[in-house]
Amino acid sequence: MTMDGGQTRRWVKDGALGAGRMRYGADYNPEQWPREVWRDDMRLMREAGVNVVSLAIFSWAHLEPRPGEWDFAWLDEIMDLLHEHGIDVDLATATASPPPWLTRLHPEVLPQTVDGTILSPGARQHWRPTSPIFRDYALRLTRVIAERYAQHPALVAWHISNELGCHNLYDFSDDAARAFRIWLQERYATLDALNDAWGTAFWSQRYSEWDEILPPRVAPTQRNPGQQLDFERFSSDAVRDHLRAEAAVLAEISPNVPRTTNFMVAGNVREIDYASWVGDVDFVSNDHYLVPGPAGRDDLSFWANLTGNLAAGRPWFLMEHATSAVNWRSANTPKRPGELIRDALTHVGHGADAVCYFQWRQSRAGGERYHSGMVPHAGPDSRVFRDVVQLGAELDALAPVTGSHREQARVAVLFDYESWWVSGRDSHPSDRIAYDVEVQGWYRALLDLGVRADVLPVGASFDDYEVVVAPMLHIVTDELRARLEDVVRDGRHVVTTYFSGIVDEHDRVWLGGYPGALRDLLGVTVEEFVPLLPGERIALASGATASTWTERITRVDHDVEVLDAYADGDLSGAPAVTRRRVGTGTATYVSADIGRDGAREVLRGLADDVAALRGDVRAARGDLEVIVRIGADARFVFLANRTDEPITVARGGEILSGGEPIGDIAEIPPRGVIVLQTGLEQVGTAPLRETAAVLG
Ligand code: GLA
Ligand code: GLA
Repeated sequence: MTMDGGQTRRWVKDGALGAGRMRYGADYNPEQWPREVWRDDMRLMREAGVNVVSLAIFSWAHLEPRPGEWDFAWLDEIMDLLHEHGIDVDLATATASPPPWLTRLHPEVLPQTVDGTILSPGARQHWRPTSPIFRDYALRLTRVIAERYAQHPALVAWHISNELGCHNLYDFSDDAARAFRIWLQERYATLDALNDAWGTAFWSQRYSEWDEILPPRVAPTQRNPGQQLDFERFSSDAVRDHLRAEAAVLAEISPNVPRTTNFMVAGNVREIDYASWVGDVDFVSNDHYLVPGPAGRDDLSFWANLTGNLAAGRPWFLMEHATSAVNWRSANTPKRPGELIRDALTHVGHGADAVCYFQWRQSRAGGERYHSGMVPHAGPDSRVFRDVVQLGAELDALAPVTGSHREQARVAVLFDYESWWVSGRDSHPSDRIAYDVEVQGWYRALLDLGVRADVLPVGASFDDYEVVVAPMLHIVTDELRARLEDVVRDGRHVVTTYFSGIVDEHDRVWLGGYPGALRDLLGVTVEEFVPLLPGERIALASGATASTWTERITRVDHDVEVLDAYADGDLSGAPAVTRRRVGTGTATYVSADIGRDGAREVLRGLADDVAALRGDVRAARGDLEVIVRIGADARFVFLANRTDEPITVARGGEILSGGEPIGDIAEIPPRGVIVLQTGLEQVGTAPLRETAAVLG
């Protein structure tokens, strides 16, 4: 690729991350290896079809071995070597892990945990996001790197820091306290407004001076919920400020090269509201690590789906995943046969135009020596490397997919980071409920029904969705309430569940009975939550089972139908699942934790009225996940086998990857994905159902 500004801009604007080809590669850490290995790396990268690497992510100590003393010789050499081999570079600003000299000179940049512990150097990311001293050093490094490489022909993107906030997001230091107060002054303007928002009349917490306010450090008992929520928002914003500061330096020196930072849109990272970061990158990139076991595939689909919708349907960059095991769970199992390719292609289905791994060559030393890589400890004559080479070929065949967008589904599953934070707070009716589990339960129920759904950030428009599923949507503002009411008024459908609509944006309870802000929409009033004890189960009349949570519904409006009732315990006979009808629209309320199986039956019931819930795949029984991307002149249908058995489908298009045609049918191997290309005329549910009719 030439580096003239126009072309680069187009690269971003069209979302054509691969400029007509899928990007494929890894984090590359050549500073961990002697020169002779570099040559071997180039040969093996070519063999695998690697065409991009992320470089210098953790190289600060090599690039600036002493304050202000630079050593770029090795980076010059590897940049040139990569370019000679046709491999492009997503070049890091190298600021993720400060070198030992920096924290020796300035121990005051080290972050402080909630209980006052100062984190030491010796791992990585040991810096306070709000430290002015750290910021100065980081921006100086960013500037020097940008000036040196802005014109390098291998450079295709800037990689700002790395997984910002992964280990240092919640910093409770005095720097954080100062920055928190400024953030609060901007938000509230007056202390009266802050005192009101935080409910400081409780427990004598009223503030008379801004300087009295601290981060919510360890305290004798339950800390102020409004303060905790604002500190969480502040912390997500503070790390974003660091992103903005580095981005500004890059924009000044290298305005035409797109900038990104790798998000962590995944089940183990809830602290960052990525919906508020999207505007600060030229293209979205994400890291995702497979959860081992049966739920892993659907978990991957869920987060990839959210990533695609954070990117507003445009192509995004899968910056990291693992070829096989990670090294940070309690038991780190290798991927099963087929999973390496399946996982990559599932991300591609959800909009990734780049498939990259952490990391190219498995490290010999250091904390991640047992984390898989594209080239494992065993070397290239290995199962993993053979899969890596095969994936390279499959991605090559998927070149026509690049630049295409996700095709919008007709069902949305709302996702709200702040409801995740707040519903999981201490001092709640139960600590046994989990937002992410509840939301994923409904998503998996839709997959089970063969229904394509978009996992949608709550701030995105849901005007074009026929069904909006909003599980445990805990925080509902007046504005969000109105948007949900509009859905039903328009003749569309809302489904929501327990512990939704309970609080406002300050975690203050809406009065008059639960589900608070959604009481009118749903036409029910709940007087008391009735969480269940460990092991306790309550049967519903339909045969569904409630665990962890039930509620006492005491009022049901005249236009509300009771669909299911509690069948034992103190609530026996009381409504459990209700549906209010407004014209052709409906608002369904599920007051209990009935799990994925219960969710599936509720959705199946609604499907009598709602075609969008009847499934995209004829007779699929949920065995396939159907994902669709749509390009200028073709449609790409990804059929991912969710089972461990082969599945035969009637194919309505040309097979781009993942299987050989056998006449008019195709077989999808266990855990396999096939990608069909069809004409644009085959848009809409019915033709797709023909495209992917499951035969057996
Ligand atoms: C994160 C980091 C990588 C690496 C991987 C290991 O995603 O960005 O540097 O540590 O985790 O899984
Ligand atoms: C104690 C305290 C009260 C209140 C209750 C709650 O009794 O004195 O202020 O916190 O616990 O159970």
